[in-house]
Amino acid sequence: MKTIESINVKDKTVLVRVDYNVPVKKNKVLSDLRVRASLPTINYLLENGAKRIVLISHLGRPEGKINPEFTLSPVADCLRALLPDQTIGFYPTPEPGETVKIPDNIKIALLDNLRFNPGEESNDKQFIKSIIDGVGADVYVQDGFAVVHRAHASTDAVKEFLPVYAGLLLEKEIKNLDSVLNNPARPLVLIIGGSKVEDKEPLIKKFTSLADHILVGGKIAADGYKSNNKKIYVATDFDEDSTGAKLDIGPISTAEFANHIADAKTIVWNGLLGKAEDPAYATSSNIVADLIGEKSDATTIICGGDTTGFVEELMTKHKNLKYSLISTGGGASLEYLLGNHLPGLSAIKK
Ligand code: 3PG
Repeated sequence: MKTIESINVKDKTVLVRVDYNVPVKKNKVLSDLRVRASLPTINYLLENGAKRIVLISHLGRPEGKINPEFTLSPVADCLRALLPDQTIGFYPTPEPGETVKIPDNIKIALLDNLRFNPGEESNDKQFIKSIIDGVGADVYVQDGFAVVHRAHASTDAVKEFLPVYAGLLLEKEIKNLDSVLNNPARPLVLIIGGSKVEDKEPLIKKFTSLADHILVGGKIAADGYKSNNKKIYVATDFDEDSTGAKLDIGPISTAEFANHIADAKTIVWNGLLGKAEDPAYATSSNIVADLIGEKSDATTIICGGDTTGFVEELMTKHKNLKYSLISTGGGASLEYLLGNHLPGLSAIKK
């Protein structure tokens, strides 16, 4: 996979596909993980003399219609706060034949939600061509790891018009996930939580041959998930509320998870171990997040929106925690771990 480090970006207008599909409430970005994660590529391009960086993304599912509820304008404000020395322009996506008028002093421009146009999701070549022409793009960089599992105009059709290179976030995500799939340091431990067994079963199945241990907690375990496979440990005790509902895994199971974490050299964690939005039932998730984040002798990967959000929140309180990768890709990281075809990756120059 060719990355931006293999090309000369000096004086080039670089179109960068990011994934700024972030939670927004009352015009404020609630989690800036994906926006922060895009900064290394933006800074790299600035430092290497790019003439201009044009960022494109989707947000939510506005179904091909302009809808102020899904504007990326709050993300533009978030970027301004993260890059206070830059003037960041924000523009509507151009119509065919239209030129986006970006003043010369603007080095970074963000276009509004790609999904305001039906052409994005229908993988319409003319739609992405009108963006490329409208901003005068010379090079295309794919850095929206979280959207590479979609065959959309900005992830797939784009390759018809410009060479596609990987950005630094995409490179980091793939390198870390590859270190799990290809010759991982052992023991490799997969920790699975969350509520929908049907979402997690493919991952458990795939890791049955790959991992040394699979630890299952969360509602899946509370609902009675069973396996005869010796590699799979399912939580055995639970913290219950007054009605008897099992809302967190209990101390015996948490200690078993802790033992495996202590020995592990590679850890993948997907899914919270209890109803962690309620602090009374976040005990096991807190312990496991702390233990993983304190390890310095292992590759540690956190994936899935709920789990990454939980860990990010904990890191604001426990400053010592470090993880090899807090994946920005919910669906995409799972698809990658499962070995499925990701159209946005096959578009990248080899
Ligand atoms: C995500 O958040 O998983 C990506 O941005 C993809 O969004 P989508 O599921 O709406 O295509």
